Amino acid sequence: MKEVRVFAPATVANVAVGFDILGFAIDRPGDEIVARLNPSFTGIRITDITGTADKILPRETEKNTAGVAAQRLLEHLGRGGDTGIELEIHKRMPFGSGLGSSAASAAGAAVAVNELLGAPLTREALLYFTVLGEEVADGSFHADNVAPCLVGGITLIRSNESLDVHHLPVPAGLHIAVVHPEIEILTRDARAVLSNQVPLATAIRQMGGLASFITALYTNDISLLGRSLRDHMVEPQRKQLITGFDDVQAAALERGALGCSISGAGPSMFAVCDSGYLAQAAGQGMQAAFQRHGIDSQLYVSPINQRGVEVISVTE
Ligand code: HSE
Repeated sequence: MKEVRVFAPATVANVAVGFDILGFAIDRPGDEIVARLNPSFTGIRITDITGTADKILPRETEKNTAGVAAQRLLEHLGRGGDTGIELEIHKRMPFGSGLGSSAASAAGAAVAVNELLGAPLTREALLYFTVLGEEVADGSFHADNVAPCLVGGITLIRSNESLDVHHLPVPAGLHIAVVHPEIEILTRDARAVLSNQVPLATAIRQMGGLASFITALYTNDISLLGRSLRDHMVEPQRKQLITGFDDVQAAALERGALGCSISGAGPSMFAVCDSGYLAQAAGQGMQAAFQRHGIDSQLYVSPINQRGVEVISVTE
């Protein structure tokens, strides 16, 4: 039976200056999703979950991010009543890490199913189904992980409601260090600590940072990029969830990182650097700082991934 295997990359959402509206993809870690036609039933069935979250993730289609994305897509294509598809989810990234784990599974499933059915939709058109999938995991409709996961690069979301998503330029040489400490934070819980009120002075600083960050990307101004990457709004409210946060951030900045903040809802932290060498050094410094607080961590160093979900193989 025809089978499609895809790789869906991890993503860093928020990027310090764009809570819920900015994200970028990295080369690894990521999930592998397999979609396979099966004529013995109709709809989507999850037949296997392996890897880092095999005991945690639900196998019921309607409770699983990949299952929901695939099922809604199948229905949209008018194939819900005549096509059966098995999904295998191979989790290769930590769950509850702030690296867009649920987004990767949802985006991977949508691309794999679309490819299995002859690729009737563009990547951009798959976005809606992917966000519906991710909504199952954290209860909110935001595309800051799924959009960069699907299409790669740095994405800006003008509106999550209408999924008005835009690609931003990626300056050459930028590398990212992502450190995942062995602490688990659920997005749902990290959203619960946030206040609904933002003081005017904080909003002004945050808007200045976001606007300058985007200007820096368009003008390739690395110095401005470094001055922009500060989170005045969300990081102060969430950092207490991450033991050692201040020391880890200081370690990255001391080693030349342009900016360092929480990846998505955390606990992973990312540092943006202007070379792979600096990213490696910043990442190792961040790991050492976590270690001083008794926390083990994993380090991933990568350029910004410009490809998004990749089809690894198609077997007829
Ligand atoms: N923007 C989201 C948050 C990303 O920080 O809550 C996590 O999925």
